[in-house]
Amino acid sequence: MARHNPTFICQSCGAAQSRWQGKCEACGAWNTLVEEGETARPTGPGRPPRKGRLFALEPLTGETHEAPRLASGLPEFDRVTGGGFVRGSALLMAGDPGIGKSTLLIQVAAALARAGQRAVYISGEEAVAQVRLRAERLGLGDAAVELAAETSVEDIVATLSEGKTPRLVVVDSIQTMWTDTVEAAPGTVTQVRGSAQTLIRFAKRSGAAVILVGHVTKDGQIAGPRVVEHMVDAVLSFEGEGSHQFRILRAVKNRFGPTDEIGVFEMTGLGLREVANPSELFLSERDLGSPGTAVFAGIEGTRPLLVEMQALVAPTSLGTPRRAVVGWDQNRLAMVIAVLEAHCGVRLSGHDVYLNVAGGLRIMEPAADLAAAAALVSSLAHAPLPSDAVYFGEVSLSGAVRPVAQTAARLKEAKKLGFTRAILPEAARGETSEPGIALSPVGALANLVSEIAAGGVTSRRGERRLEHDPEKWEPVFGKDHAQTKG
Ligand code: TYD
Ligand code: MG
Repeated sequence: MARHNPTFICQSCGAAQSRWQGKCEACGAWNTLVEEGETARPTGPGRPPRKGRLFALEPLTGETHEAPRLASGLPEFDRVTGGGFVRGSALLMAGDPGIGKSTLLIQVAAALARAGQRAVYISGEEAVAQVRLRAERLGLGDAAVELAAETSVEDIVATLSEGKTPRLVVVDSIQTMWTDTVEAAPGTVTQVRGSAQTLIRFAKRSGAAVILVGHVTKDGQIAGPRVVEHMVDAVLSFEGEGSHQFRILRAVKNRFGPTDEIGVFEMTGLGLREVANPSELFLSERDLGSPGTAVFAGIEGTRPLLVEMQALVAPTSLGTPRRAVVGWDQNRLAMVIAVLEAHCGVRLSGHDVYLNVAGGLRIMEPAADLAAAAALVSSLAHAPLPSDAVYFGEVSLSGAVRPVAQTAARLKEAKKLGFTRAILPEAARGETSEPGIALSPVGALANLVSEIAAGGVTSRRGERRLEHDPEKWEPVFGKDHAQTKG
């Protein structure tokens, strides 16, 4: 008899090792190897290899199988999936525990059920009574969602294969599911992979859309089901800051739609409310007239979105000053700081720098460079920026402000929200104009810095918002700046 060889599986990346180690050699994670049952079927002298079954190959030019979509009834959700559920598709909904995944999905299931579609919600974490209670509290008690508290994948597939095929099956969560085909404890990578495989196969075979819920670990990895990411058609990530009520739904991967759209929700006492106009929400708590804030006119997917970028620049007491950023890229902040130092005569080496995107949003666009730089300089100089201005533009390493896409959409959104001035790249000057918005093109970041410093950026209403106190300025802005000003 062959000796039993243990297999150690990394719970982060799924790589298999023959012996235990402290560190996974494949992904570098520490302390993630766990002994699991063999995943491969034993092949040996006793078992002849199976003869393959013949299948038909189809030409690429053949009849198109269009992907009919089923809108969920929640427009913000459909925006992210690319217009609704595709028949036979599998989605992974990832997010921190407690962020609202179960709440959102029971709402989606109820909306579908109300539209007359069969929707099934399988909970492996909560009892049926708990799910029902929550649905009642959300005012969804009358929706014909079919519920079950089950964790055996074989039982689930057998039950769902009976009768009319459901249009939507929610499995909450994949970490609690287990399948007989794999000898490993529930929650381990092998089990998660095996269960997901069975459920995805069910989706493809039956035409039902299956949503798998996956919890995310503290460091942002989808715990265990990292491996599931490659198997599903779309990965949706549900994000939010614990202290904010805003929740952002983002497509990380999508085989049937775009990945740059976001859906915005607000967690209320009555479940998740869709936010059709997020700019209003993100700007609702603005601290007008205080230094260090700039409104960035951004684009998320096809939708313009205004957010406030907040900076705090304060003298440091540490040898190495701190650079902390929430909601933006750490490397981009380092780059903007370097450009300010190298080309604009701003000295930040003796200052701690904190940058925050208000509302818990995470910005990926390089167009935010200009707003971030303006907020930093404003904080450093204790000079509030005009409250009726928006900023956008990419800053290059040479200190030039480079044009960005969709200027018109950004200006339109700014106007809609009552802004009257836009600080934008020079190249956008001739490109577009929006009546009611005064354009202040900037060719080089140094110009904006000296304008802020000199109080040159005045509000349209004619007030001079910047306090201009040379005593205070000189030590902050270096000699180069004094020259530009002179
Ligand atoms: P839940 O959907 O259970 O999170 P997940 O499935 O991602 O773990 O949401 C739990 C949180 O949402 C909980 O902390 C309370 C909050 N919540 C509300 O604020 N209002 C509501 O109507 C509901 C149902 C939940
Ligand atoms: Mg849950």
